[in-house]
This record gives sequence, C-alpha cells and structure tokens, in this order.
Amino acid sequence: MANKDQTDTDRMEKIVSLCKRKGFIFQSAEIYGGLNGCWDYGSLGAEVKRNLKDLWWRKNVQERDDILGLDGSILTHQAVLTASGHVGGFSDPMCDCLLTKARLRADQIEPQSGIAYHFTGASHEESEWSVDRDYSVLLNQPNQDENKARKTAREFYAQFLTDKQIPAKKLTLLGESTSEEKEVTHYNPENGSLLTEPRDFELMFKTQMGASADDHDPNATAYLRPETAQSIFVQYKNVMDSNRVKLPFGIAQIGKAFRNEINPRNFTFRSREFEQMEIEYFCRPEDGLRLTDEWLAKRLSFYDEIGLQKEKLHVLDIPDGERAHYSQKTYDIEYDFPFGQQELEGVAYRGDYDLGKHKEHSGKPLEYFDEQTKERFIPHVVEPSAGCDRTILALICEAFYEEDLTKEGGKQDIRTVMRFKPAIAPIKAAILPLLKNKPELVEKAREVKNLLQPFMNVFYDETAAIGRRYRRQDEVGTPFCIAIDFETMGLEEGKEDLKDTVTIRHRDSMKQERIAISDLLPWLLERIH
Ligand code: GAP
Repeated sequence: MANKDQTDTDRMEKIVSLCKRKGFIFQSAEIYGGLNGCWDYGSLGAEVKRNLKDLWWRKNVQERDDILGLDGSILTHQAVLTASGHVGGFSDPMCDCLLTKARLRADQIEPQSGIAYHFTGASHEESEWSVDRDYSVLLNQPNQDENKARKTAREFYAQFLTDKQIPAKKLTLLGESTSEEKEVTHYNPENGSLLTEPRDFELMFKTQMGASADDHDPNATAYLRPETAQSIFVQYKNVMDSNRVKLPFGIAQIGKAFRNEINPRNFTFRSREFEQMEIEYFCRPEDGLRLTDEWLAKRLSFYDEIGLQKEKLHVLDIPDGERAHYSQKTYDIEYDFPFGQQELEGVAYRGDYDLGKHKEHSGKPLEYFDEQTKERFIPHVVEPSAGCDRTILALICEAFYEEDLTKEGGKQDIRTVMRFKPAIAPIKAAILPLLKNKPELVEKAREVKNLLQPFMNVFYDETAAIGRRYRRQDEVGTPFCIAIDFETMGLEEGKEDLKDTVTIRHRDSMKQERIAISDLLPWLLERIH
C-alpha cells in the first residue's frame, strides 16, 4: 500500500500561489473574505477545464456508439433524492465502526475512559503482505486482558488481506503504543474499536421553489443535486426509448454537484460546489463484474492520455464491508497529490439498486425488454464517476516543475514550467514578434495570429525581451512559442530562403526549429489534439 501520508506542503503552496498569480484558480468572493469550499476558475483555468471536459466528452460520448449524453437539471425533485436514499440518510452526525461497519449516531455515544492501544499496521511474514494504517482499540474495563485489544486489531487488519486464507491470528501487529483516555466518544462501546470521524450527513443544499414558496411548505422543497448520477437514472427510460438503444449502453453527464462538506480542504480537492464527469453504463446482470474491470482499464488509460503518470495512480479494490451494501465491486482510483494519496474517481458496480429504488418509489415500469430472449428485467449498472475539479488539480500538480538552469558561476536561474500535454494546455501557441517597434514584424505576427486563432487558443505578446516572454509562457504551460523575426521577413542577408518561415520554440526541451508559415496550421493541429 502506498504511503497516504507522504506530503509536500512546500510544493502545494507554490502551486496554489501560481494558480492565483497566473489566473488558473481564485478563491470565490476573495475580496469579501472568501466563500469557504468554493472556487472560481480564471481565464487559464477555464481553458484547462474546457479542454478536459471536451476530451472526456469526445472519448466517452462522441467516439462511442454505445454512450449517449445528458445534461440534466441541477435543481432536483425531492422524490428523486428520497428514492436514492440521500434524503433522510444524510441528516445526522454519524460515525462508522472500523471493525463491524455498524453505524452509530455520534451524538448518542456515551463517553468512555480506559487504556487505548494504538497500532500503525500489520504484516504477514510468509506472504510478505503488509498494511500501513493507523488503528486503535479502547479497553474500558479495569484489569482487562490486553490481548483482547490485539485480537480486535488483528481482526481489523485482516479485512485488508488479499489472501483470505490467512487467518487473522497469524498477523503481526506493528507500532504498538498505549495512552490513557478519559471520557472519549470515538470508540465503539460494543467492541472498543476505533470509529471513523463523525460525519454530518446533512450534506445536501436545500432550497425552496416557486414565488409563493414558504420555508415551511414541504412540497416547495428542492435540492441542488449532490451527484449527477440521479438524473441519469431517472431519465434512463426516456433516453432508451427516444434512442432505441439496446443493452449494454451508457448515459454520460458532466455537470455541477453540490455537497455541504463539513471540512472543505486541500485547495479545490474537497469543495462544496464541484463538477463531476459520470457515466452510468447499463448492462445485463451477468456482464456487470467484467464490465467493471473493463471500465477501470479504460479510465486508467484516459488518465495516461491526459498526462498523469502511471506511477502516481493507485487502484484500491475496496474490500467487502467497506463498499456500499449494494455494490459487488468498487475500485477507487487514487492519485499522489502533494498533500497525499487521494481519490480521483470511483468505478463502482452498483447492481440494479438505483433503478430498482426509482421503480419502487415512482411506481413506473423501468424494466428493459430483451427482444431476443423475451426477458424483462431491471438492468444492472457500472458507474465510472470522476471529479472534474480533482482531475484538473491533479493535472496542475503533475505539470508543475521547477528546473534549475543556473550556469556555472552565474546568477541562480530557476525556470518554472507547467508541462501540460498540449491537449490540456490553456494556450496552445504564443505568437511573439521579435521587436514591437518594427511595424513589419508586428504586422506579420498579427497575420500569423489571425491564421491560427479560429482553430485554437493563441496568445499574442509583444512586450519585453523574447527570452522573458518565453519564460512567461513556460509558466502557464504553452507548448509552442512562435517567434517572428527578421528572417521571417527575408531581411537577413544570406538567409533569404527563410522568408515566410517562423521559429518554433518547444516548451519542454527549449529547442527551436524553423517552419514555413504555410505549414504552421497543420503542424500545430497535429500536435495539440
Ligand atoms: N455517483 C457516485 C458519486 O458521486 P462519489 O465518490 O461521492 O460518487 C465521485 O463522487 C467523484 O466526485 C469523486 O471520486 C471525486 O472525484 C468527486 N467528488 C466528490 N466529492 C467531491 C468534493 N466535495 N469536491 C470535489 N470533488 C468531489
């Protein structure tokens, strides 16, 4: 298991500061002290977001025959979220027993005192298996056998065993220590096991609809959706009937979701308003597990394509008991952010739970009729659910480099460079006339800009020395800089053959090459998609 606690605060601070300085991401309502958990994307951030969403949509909808798009409303009927279990299930501060998964009301746990036994992990020598996770057990009776705490801890760590044949008692506990606890409420009174942090499940933002809606009219209540998935389930029959599609098929949606997170943190990572990119892929029950594995592979290759290093991505096969009760398989895809390894996307096999619930609550027939076998059944669903903002944060963290280009004996020279893949980069090419006081260079540069602008986001800059302009573009991740110089004008003696060519300077290698203006557009188009 990778080290979840490996963090680089210094690097994260630099990234957050660059995001503000260069206009990728700003705190929402900053001049009023900020709106906690909400973020605004500046001009460059908005481009990156658009690039990511366009790419995801192209790969998952437009380039596939079996997936259709949806753009559902954000305001959601309370009946939808009652059926899905969000209303009612999300209203108390709850914590879970890490051992039995029993869910307890945090505010109803009696305070307990005793000796807590803490462990940092467990291992099994013969199979070279180990798990690295903090866990504690409280013994709350006087003179209790301390081995009871160790037995409970072994049972806890045994949940993570990949080889279920290994008995819990064969595990070696790591990093044991003890502490005296007084009147604490974070242990399960039933078995002494550590509980998760209490979570307030009133996560949804509620609103009142209609001009005459008063606060006490329950019928006027609507919610800002906490996930995009529910409108897909609710519209599944309409999409299916209007498109005459057959299983397996998917419905994809990109859009805002809202959760009143108790503790928004780590820049945009845990926000109260965020965007999801979700697919609900409907299938026959017997295909569910296989398709879950196939989707996991597809999603990993997408992350590879957009430039997240394989070594920084981790797949967690969520063990029995930690998954939602209706899910037979769930993978979490996690990424090594500077603040630790954290979830980017979940790929979950949700069975027929969601459609089953909506059928039950709405009373509408949501079955699929198979023309060939004449069977009628509720399709199962595989759900790859990605966070758009989290992916952008991962792309920004991945792209951020500081290169030391200091020459021997020279002044320190650190180049900040955002190594975005060209498809993700906010600006694809910068157009730079060598000198701004030479009208012929400026005119030619503007011609080049006009040539490229209808096809991609370009940036024209004539201020400062060319070297400084290159560095500015490095800092925002522009993969190509195009310099218009005297050779472009055919004004360099002995280099007349370079007339109507430009210098292309590559961001990562800083190498330069010359290209004819007439070849520029196809050359760039080939490299930016
Ligand atoms: N429909 C399933 C679903 O919503 P989830 O694991 O709660 O599952 C899916 O959310 C993805 O949405 C997460 O993997 C994460 O990328 C993103 N996400 C969830 N909560 C978020 C938050 N508070 N801020 C930013 N992204 C979030």
